[in-house]
Amino acid sequence: MATGHVYVTRDLGPGPMQVLRESGREVVVHPDRDLPPTRDELLEGVSGAAGIITLLTEAMDAELFDRAGPQLAVVAAVSVGVDNIDVRAAQSRGITVTNTPDVLTDATADLAMGLLLALNRRIVEADTFLKRGGSWSWGPRLFLGRDLAGETLGIVGLGRIGEALATRARAFGMRVIAAGSRADDRGYVERMPLDELLATADAISLHTPLNEQTRHMIGARQIALMKPGAVIINTARGPLIDEDALVDALKSRRIRGAGLDVFEHEPAIHPGLLELHNVVLTPHIGSAGEQTRTGMALLAIRNALAVLDHAEPLTPVSNLVNKGVHRDAVPVSGAGVGKQGES
Ligand code: DGY
Repeated sequence: MATGHVYVTRDLGPGPMQVLRESGREVVVHPDRDLPPTRDELLEGVSGAAGIITLLTEAMDAELFDRAGPQLAVVAAVSVGVDNIDVRAAQSRGITVTNTPDVLTDATADLAMGLLLALNRRIVEADTFLKRGGSWSWGPRLFLGRDLAGETLGIVGLGRIGEALATRARAFGMRVIAAGSRADDRGYVERMPLDELLATADAISLHTPLNEQTRHMIGARQIALMKPGAVIINTARGPLIDEDALVDALKSRRIRGAGLDVFEHEPAIHPGLLELHNVVLTPHIGSAGEQTRTGMALLAIRNALAVLDHAEPLTPVSNLVNKGVHRDAVPVSGAGVGKQGES
């Protein structure tokens, strides 16, 4: 059993924390539930730790691993995305990195679908209109939006979450297309190069991990390919989209709208986005279902404890993940998108 405490960067809720405490290990938890530790607090907290359980708000890098010390055996992310972790730096020091795939698939696909519904049926605009008060009467063009049935959804990153969204979109009567060439087991998702998808879809939803290949995969060139009536949904990672280019396109109505759960400079929101009616914004709540978050916390804890007990973790991160060549990688160039996955 590796010695050293387990540092947890945020309270993960009573059930999961009890499981961790019952392991008999010394547990040190950052005391603020709402805000992440500052860098200094983090460096102090990890010093001497055998394991770190981290959220996506903390940068886990070489400096931090060195500050923790050579006994650090595991960094367990409470997220499927690990772009905040320098996986190569961890692995070169013999530190195992784990994440939480699967448990958040449905919750995140639900939110993507919700953003799409909210945009197409203008739910948030209509809600704001009513809450402002004033008289109104039913009218044939009042908050006229777009039907989902018959529209085409383009999924960029047909991994677990992308597939779960495809299932939902299909149930709503949408045609589903996806970037890439991998065969589709379900038989109803048409595959095509990214550029063709951008020019074909009425709604585009991003589900790729963030890495150097996918950063700004949607920029001015890609937006120029989209249909004027298109909307874009992002529940993956903010930097997949060049937000300046997106705000320009939304302001000029080059595209119809955007549903964003993640932001390029999170937690900062591009001021241009805050002024627009044709966007729906949520504060990175893709996995924020109670059962989902508990499942994520428990999985991360089990991963950490397994490594500390010299057992196999349930969901280790592949050692190729930060090299941009793992199964979820998506090249920035439009055509010929290869294997893709999700964030
Ligand atoms: C993840 O797991 O990567 C999500 O973004 C967190 O909700």
